[in-house]
Amino acid sequence: VTRARIYLDHNASAPLRAEALDAMLRVLRDVPGNPSSVHAEGERAREALAQARERVAALLGAQPDEIVFTSGATEANNAVFASLASGSAPAAIATSAVEHPSVEQPLGRLEKRGWRVARHPVTCEGELDAREFLASLCADVQLVSLIAANNETGVLFPIAAIADGLRERGIALHLVATQWIGKLPLDARKLSVDSLACSAHKLGGPKGVGCLFVRRGVAFEPALLGGSQERRRRAGTENLAGIAGFGAACEAAQQSLAAESQRVAALRDRLWRGLRERVPGVLRNGGAQNVLPNTLNAAFPAARGELLLQALDLDGVAVSAGAACASGSLAPSPVLLAMGLGAERAAESLRFSLGPATTADEIERVLALVPPIVARVRASGATR
Ligand SMILES: Cc1ncc(COP(=O)(O)O)c(C=O)c1O
Repeated sequence: VTRARIYLDHNASAPLRAEALDAMLRVLRDVPGNPSSVHAEGERAREALAQARERVAALLGAQPDEIVFTSGATEANNAVFASLASGSAPAAIATSAVEHPSVEQPLGRLEKRGWRVARHPVTCEGELDAREFLASLCADVQLVSLIAANNETGVLFPIAAIADGLRERGIALHLVATQWIGKLPLDARKLSVDSLACSAHKLGGPKGVGCLFVRRGVAFEPALLGGSQERRRRAGTENLAGIAGFGAACEAAQQSLAAESQRVAALRDRLWRGLRERVPGVLRNGGAQNVLPNTLNAAFPAARGELLLQALDLDGVAVSAGAACASGSLAPSPVLLAMGLGAERAAESLRFSLGPATTADEIERVLALVPPIVARVRASGATR
């Protein structure tokens, strides 16, 4: 009998929610028009777009007109830095040492163009101290960009305290909330962030769609020029089916948010307790307190993460060693290195990320599989 696979890589991409699939199929089948067209077909497409925008805005604590649909969080992040650079002479940007490549790479380009980028260090638990961070900001900082919840460790940054401090000083704040949205509540207006990036496929929507929240009144220079879609903030005919799926996924996530985050946190904690009992020497990467409910990053000393990942994959369990976008490369995770954990420990680490479909039975099966795999990889001596 072949057993169903166990998918513990939701931070790379979450399975499509049934509600999202239904909404997408409905649009693909029944909505032929362009949302910019005047006729009845156009009107129906416009309605689908508006409904999705309301659903996404509701989950983010935003007004619908503050949502700009994009191809994902990568595009949303790039758009923010492009907008900043087009409206200002080179100045300074402050960020952390554990950002996603879709922030790190555009910042690298700005540095080549004369901008200064201050990358604030994190503790060995991956945390950022809000007071220290605020105190470190130079007078010419125009924008602070921070990853709200880390994709690799799940560690949460103190975004409310930082937002408060920045508001007092009139410095703009961009949040990368890709991993946060759909897993924990967030209210973009209450936080008074200026912009925020988010992605549909991390919360059970389709891949290739996401959004940029831009608070009302915040200056924004579009990266894509052309038609007047998205209130002239992102030209091009909308990915309507994807957007409808995104909206449906947001609504579904919002309805179950509180109960689901508790349920998943209990499963994640069970996984960690079980690993600690059964795998000698296992270490948790990142603190246990300020962390996403679904994420566990752990190091298995003297066992290479890639070998563990491959063995688990053969046994039907999908996990990750480092972030998905970095897979295929043998380089140790820059996030774990920035936490000061060292290249060896970084190469011996796995990320388990749970989701709505994860069951207690799956966690028990993983707990039965991991210890003998670790023992086997350790015995093979292939640590490098
Ligand atoms: C923190 C973070 N930011 C950005 C992205 C990129 O999002 P997207 O795949 O929508 O471009 C991801 C995941 O891939 C992520 O985890």
